[in-house]
Amino acid sequence: MKALFLAGGKGLRMQPLTDTLPKPMVPVMNKPLLERTMMNLKKNGITDMVISTCYRPDSIKNYFGNGKRLGLDIQYIVEDTPLGTGGAIKKAESHFDDTFIVLNSDIVSDIDIKKMIDFHKSKKALVTIAVTEVEDPSAYGVIETDANGYAVSFVEKPLPGQASSNYINAGIYIFEPEVLKDIAADCVVSVERDTFPKILAEGNKMGVFKNEGYWIDIGTLEKYRQVHLDILSKKCRLVGCGLENEYMVLGQNVKIHPTVRIFGSVYIGDNVEIGAKAVICNSVIGNDSLVGPECRIVECILWNDVKVSGNVRLKKTIVPSGSLICTSMNYSDTVFTGDAGNLCLQKDIVL
Ligand code: GDD
Ligand code: MG
Repeated sequence: MKALFLAGGKGLRMQPLTDTLPKPMVPVMNKPLLERTMMNLKKNGITDMVISTCYRPDSIKNYFGNGKRLGLDIQYIVEDTPLGTGGAIKKAESHFDDTFIVLNSDIVSDIDIKKMIDFHKSKKALVTIAVTEVEDPSAYGVIETDANGYAVSFVEKPLPGQASSNYINAGIYIFEPEVLKDIAADCVVSVERDTFPKILAEGNKMGVFKNEGYWIDIGTLEKYRQVHLDILSKKCRLVGCGLENEYMVLGQNVKIHPTVRIFGSVYIGDNVEIGAKAVICNSVIGNDSLVGPECRIVECILWNDVKVSGNVRLKKTIVPSGSLICTSMNYSDTVFTGDAGNLCLQKDIVL
């Protein structure tokens, strides 16, 4: 079975992290989220993938190429202007002549894809949507289900208080190729606002597969930080990151001074140096990075090539690649822009 990734969004709610990087390339535990999801699919025997891109396609193409390095076969579609989720799926039509999977590219989940495919077949559905239960469904597509596991309604982002259910579209679908015939070509179409309601209005079968496990859309800065805390605390067991059953992951060529204190759970990438009396707690430190003497890094996500020195204290802070933070200050609940040359600017974002 082939998979289609919807990866063309601008990631506006993740600025400044997405100013230079498309959302699917934002690292989750030091690897692009898209790569983590792809490797999960590979474990389920799915290696043929199409990535539908629009915003900064080269960043995705240059990293994954034809996929061979990861044991995958990857094809690309590039939209000149965003076609919306439905338009993007339609544009990929020539790649699919059999049942296929569609995934939003900003989801971390432990959904059982094999079970979902079996469920879809057993329901003889035209489309099956994975759903998950949330407290506030207003930021998502809300789905009502009948007693037999079929959808009766789909409402995208209802007004607060007007949702008919707490089960929301988890952004993972199984499609029969026939669905594509009814989507207009070269038009902006939303699968959530246009296609799904139409499928139901015409009396077609839409299966609803309930995911009881972990699920998060990382598309806001707050959620992006949350997924890391969930992985570090083992609420989310992200397969392949090394922290599923451990509390510390150390890359290659890591130099930690004997006086460093490490608390909680930490992920430290390759070629990292941590200086005397530094403190690291529940944090991720990317490759080729330096944490200088006496610095404190608490509940932070440092990307690759980050240098922190001069008694800096960071708490609940995200630091993108190429940043150098060297003023003796405390930063909390901050996202650095990482694009200001030598010294990072502090973006006025409080998480
Ligand atoms: N190729 C392409 N073209 N991809 C797009 C486009 C487009 O024009 N617009 C969005 N995408 C991709 C995004 O990159 C993302 O991976 C996915 O489609 C969903 O877009 P988001 O912008 O993240 O949507 P959302 O989070 O507000 O809502 C969607 O996801 C929720 C679950 O997280 C909807 O599908 C909701 O119904 C759902 O509940
Ligand atoms: Mg999203």
